[in-house]
Amino acid sequence: MKGRSPFKTNFPLSLKGEGDKGGEVDRQSSWGVKMRVPMIAGNWKMNTTISEAVELVSKMRRGLDEIGDVEKVVCPPFVSLSAVKELIKGSSIRLGAQNLYFEEKGAYTGEISPLMVADLCEFVIIGHSERRQYFNETGETVNRKLRAALKVGLKPILCIGERLEEKETGRTEEVVTQQLWSSLAGIDSLGDLIIAYEPVWAIGTGKAATGKQVNETVGLISLSIAQLYDKVVAQNMRILYGGSVTADNIAEFMPQPEIDGALVGGASLKADEFLSIVRQTSEIKGRLSR
Ligand code: 13P
Repeated sequence: MKGRSPFKTNFPLSLKGEGDKGGEVDRQSSWGVKMRVPMIAGNWKMNTTISEAVELVSKMRRGLDEIGDVEKVVCPPFVSLSAVKELIKGSSIRLGAQNLYFEEKGAYTGEISPLMVADLCEFVIIGHSERRQYFNETGETVNRKLRAALKVGLKPILCIGERLEEKETGRTEEVVTQQLWSSLAGIDSLGDLIIAYEPVWAIGTGKAATGKQVNETVGLISLSIAQLYDKVVAQNMRILYGGSVTADNIAEFMPQPEIDGALVGGASLKADEFLSIVRQTSEIKGRLSR
């Protein structure tokens, strides 16, 4: 990370004066960069017993395996990870956890360490707004968790997003930039970090943002990453949208060029609906890349 705070920068952010294009990161360019594979991740939150988790994955497995060109991730509760891992062996479904603690081991009753998560999972969600809201996670704890996850080779899915009053007072850009800055402070290499832009007002409310709004904010997040790191890091980084995504509205988001997929809550608990979200993503992103 470059050692300067975006808060000294005037909003809106700009790359002017830093290179050839100025003003934006060309995330559509394929010159010298990897193509970003779209991702749909299901955050099951605190839902499903072990047998329900097994049943849910069993219902999706075959259908998901038939869909190409999308990375499919499920994030069940901790207690179901082992059972789900067994079930998805040999399939295209990848596994993620919903949280971790930043210490590797010791007297931290009830916590799960990065090493334990890395034994089972490839991905881990960090900084979800529900953890910030109900479990007092701060920028500092999110930063420590991110470092811990990256250290053991996990691919973090870092959640950021503004609250309703912040959106209504025109502070979205400032808030997401500040969240990024505090989450990433002192981290030099982002590994395979994925960002999920999840406006808090859209989570579990049925009031999804519009594709255009999200595309704009994701573009700003990308610009911020380019300022903090460099353009290639920003071009390669996948940035997802989360907040009341359903099979009925996924087609609003996926045609937007900046949005690389979705982090899905409620709708990921219904096998048919999750399949439909993944299928539509594959079709829409496939058309765009042709
Ligand atoms: P919903 O899709 O239920 O709104 O939840 C989104 C979310 O928080 C994913 O992490």
